Amino acid sequence: QQLVVGIDIGGTNTKFGIVDRRGNILCDGRMLTNKHEDVNCFLDELHQQLSTLIAQVGGIENIKGIGVGAPNGNYYNGNIEYAPNLRWKGVVPLASLLEKKFGLPAVLTNDANAAALGELIYGAARGMKDFIVITLGTGVGSGIVANGQLIYGHDGFAGELGHIIVIPGGRYHPGTGAYGSLEAYASATGVTNTAIEFLATRPEVPSIMREHTKEEINSKLIYEAAMKGDPLAMEVYEFTGQILGAALANFVMFSSPEAIILFGGLTQAGDVIMKPVREHMEKNLLPIFQNKVKLLFSELKESDAAILGASALAWEMKD
Ligand code: BGC
Ligand code: NA
Repeated sequence: QQLVVGIDIGGTNTKFGIVDRRGNILCDGRMLTNKHEDVNCFLDELHQQLSTLIAQVGGIENIKGIGVGAPNGNYYNGNIEYAPNLRWKGVVPLASLLEKKFGLPAVLTNDANAAALGELIYGAARGMKDFIVITLGTGVGSGIVANGQLIYGHDGFAGELGHIIVIPGGRYHPGTGAYGSLEAYASATGVTNTAIEFLATRPEVPSIMREHTKEEINSKLIYEAAMKGDPLAMEVYEFTGQILGAALANFVMFSSPEAIILFGGLTQAGDVIMKPVREHMEKNLLPIFQNKVKLLFSELKESDAAILGASALAWEMKD
């Protein structure tokens, strides 16, 4: 079998592809993650779409297995457990559900861990031994590689850096019940909530976003406003950069990485977000760490890193 399936389940989209040994994605597709409340309906739709792709590459005999990355995914047991941004509550034994549905062996890990593996093997982290990938999307996740190995920890959940507390007692996260987590500020929803908050509390700052209702504000609108130099949108990015930059400094001091690789929606804003992130990261670092850590963007097409990393895990599975 010369091919594997790689799946990246995100808080908004699920992307999948059929991947060869060299990391070429031969064909791919996507669907909405949260359309179905019942995970079995999700699996039905995924099976339907993937079957078409599998037929295109000559049938299931050519497929060795399935690798999948998912929020709150646990590599040790193949479960998704209590994911704050998914509709499937509790513990979902996704790897075994996939095995039953497809009749193929399946392996699961955290989506950001999959992205880190993708970067390590095919992307910006090639040749690196110590780096951290931060995914900034519907959720905020991370994959920590130390000494060439992903850190999984005792229970398999190491690297849930989106949920570290950056402002004790700060903004409430309805998905987790926590106050002041990084995800509450640096996710797509977090940035949107900051904009809504600033529009209300800073009436003196001009903004084209004031022409919109609260419901219309989203990360794309903020990004477009910032690209036009909108003062309030710039303040939103400055504030986000301040929080994310300080968090990155903490991560650097924790594991001394060669690089931090960012990917996901927020990185589209480019320099507008990177400038404050870099500045606040450096400012909060102990001098021994300053001006050493590379801050990079994923070189791989958005989210292909996770598909590729998940597929790499599928190659590693024993026959
Ligand atoms: C989840 C992580 C995930 C991240 C990005 C977070 O809410 O807890 O496991 O990696 O979102 O999807
Ligand atoms: Na992780």
